[in-house]
Amino acid sequence: MDLDDCHNYDDFRRLAKKKLPSPIFHYIDGGSDDEVTLRRNSNSFNSCDLIPNVLNGVENPDLSTIVLGRKINIPLFLSPTAMQRLYHPDGDKASARAAEKFGTFYSMSTMANTSIEEISNISSGPKLFQLYVHKDKSITDDLLDRCKMANFDGLCLTVDTIVAGNRERDHRTGFTTPPKFTFKSFVDFALRPGWLFNYFTNKKFELSNVKNKTDKGTNITKSVIEYINEQYDPAMNWKDAEYIVKKWNGPFALKGIMSLEDVEHAIDIGCTAVIISNHGGRQLDGSLSPFDQIKEISDKFGNKVEIILDGGIRRGTHVIKAIAAGAKACSFGKGYLFSLSAGGQKGIEKMLQNLHKEIERNMKLMGCKNLKELNSSKLVYR
Ligand code: LAC
Repeated sequence: MDLDDCHNYDDFRRLAKKKLPSPIFHYIDGGSDDEVTLRRNSNSFNSCDLIPNVLNGVENPDLSTIVLGRKINIPLFLSPTAMQRLYHPDGDKASARAAEKFGTFYSMSTMANTSIEEISNISSGPKLFQLYVHKDKSITDDLLDRCKMANFDGLCLTVDTIVAGNRERDHRTGFTTPPKFTFKSFVDFALRPGWLFNYFTNKKFELSNVKNKTDKGTNITKSVIEYINEQYDPAMNWKDAEYIVKKWNGPFALKGIMSLEDVEHAIDIGCTAVIISNHGGRQLDGSLSPFDQIKEISDKFGNKVEIILDGGIRRGTHVIKAIAAGAKACSFGKGYLFSLSAGGQKGIEKMLQNLHKEIERNMKLMGCKNLKELNSSKLVYR
């Protein structure tokens, strides 16, 4: 099986599973507790159906939209995800290059293994930085200043992870940063010699953006759950968020909100966008899916703030349904991490190409010339 055999999410996932040691595969693939929310994120798109129109002369549908101050060519971008060099030696560089090629946003996590400056040197494409507020507040100021200097377009603050979700797969596999080869995990790693070769022959693994402030996760091995619980600030509140919005003074998204009240609050403190997300089902299990909420949020706030749906996207029709329900754009994480694991930059390009084709084809089948024509009259809920 290789990239040519990858036609959809499941194919990329299967190829990634072949290439990755199991603790790393399960870190991407897993959710929290019983993974009910993880499953719901994708399944909720089946709670409604599309109503197509015909004979509308749709030859070349326009898939572009404007989010976070940049025009993007498809209404889908890469969510921020941590530690991408676990999946492929090129890590964030592969993601940034693939996103730029497809004219969409690459997003960098606070927990990336590539620095803000390195990415800014290789990409002039749309770039979003994701902030985790650490207990050490000097980290926030340092990251914001560096992102400004490096010309990142937008900033998003993740607010759904003040404590780590109960990711039982990680407990079972013993997943850590940097990866630790224990007696238990030895066989998993030994069975993936290609991964081991890449890991040991490439640049040392590090949390590049915070290594000047903490050794944890770079020289001191931690599980991600420990890292989050020790380092992130659970006391973070709306005043802290407002300080960050004001300091950034540019396109800004609050990421990981679900309720109408929180969207309203985000608008009040000056956010230009909200990312409706439950962290890919990795945090509060039993919480509703972004698609379950998107219509109500869009109906109420769609003319006041950019609404981005994050979570559960597997197909072009998922993006189409989200836009019809009122989202400005969507973002996804697991899908592109599997394709990064399967084939680096080329893997992500293949995944984006597949989804681009799916969105374009289905826009034609829907009879929509542009994303504005995709509105709630095209959806019927079951
Ligand atoms: C995670 C964090 C680090 O979901 O974003 O693992």
